[in-house]
Amino acid sequence: MVADTDAKKRRAALAALELVPKDSIIGVGTGSTVKFLIEALATRPGLVRAAVSSSDDSSTRLRAAGVAIADLNELSDLALYIDGADEANPARQLIKGGGGALTREKIIASAARRFVCIVDDGKIVATLGRFPLPVEVIPMARALVSRALTAHGGRPVWRQGFTTDNGNYILDVHGLVIDDPPALERELNQICGVVTVGLFAVRPADVLLIGTARGVDTR
Ligand code: A5P
Repeated sequence: MVADTDAKKRRAALAALELVPKDSIIGVGTGSTVKFLIEALATRPGLVRAAVSSSDDSSTRLRAAGVAIADLNELSDLALYIDGADEANPARQLIKGGGGALTREKIIASAARRFVCIVDDGKIVATLGRFPLPVEVIPMARALVSRALTAHGGRPVWRQGFTTDNGNYILDVHGLVIDDPPALERELNQICGVVTVGLFAVRPADVLLIGTARGVDTR
């Protein structure tokens, strides 16, 4: 089962590699699907000149693969961002942040002209929300934000023992009804103490590459 899922993730990652212009600077996300992308980059020296990375973990892997790390502040343009997701709906709206890297992921997605999302077919849902929604919060506001999320109908669970690369906490919110993802993203963003909501709906993926048992479906 894990081997089957990994094969699907690898297929999606390899399909994304074909969209990378030679000698480019790209954004690279975080997670087990992206690991296959980084592994593949190691076998194609020169394809990517540098990468803007969404996490310390991906930066370490990219350097080991021979890819330099670029500072987003030094770039006036970023053509392409490739990242995974925890859930995707037919409108290419996503839940992300299972690995806790959602804030840097959202920054890079917002900077990129094209956001290509790579997933296995087990991540596709009709309605977002089966996967608990990760929300990054400033530590002193954890309880305050939890109460506000509960008032929104969710059941926030503190991801104890985990600190993000930005020094913050994650609340995983169960049981939310997400029938209007952009509206909920905007609403939850307004809670004081929230750094980032793991809904990627205001800026969804432009392309979804879905690894299946037979190949890759493109949406
Ligand atoms: C990292 O914080 C996440 O947003 C990942 O992109 C997402 O969790 C997908 O990870 P996997 O590829 O490991 O499923």
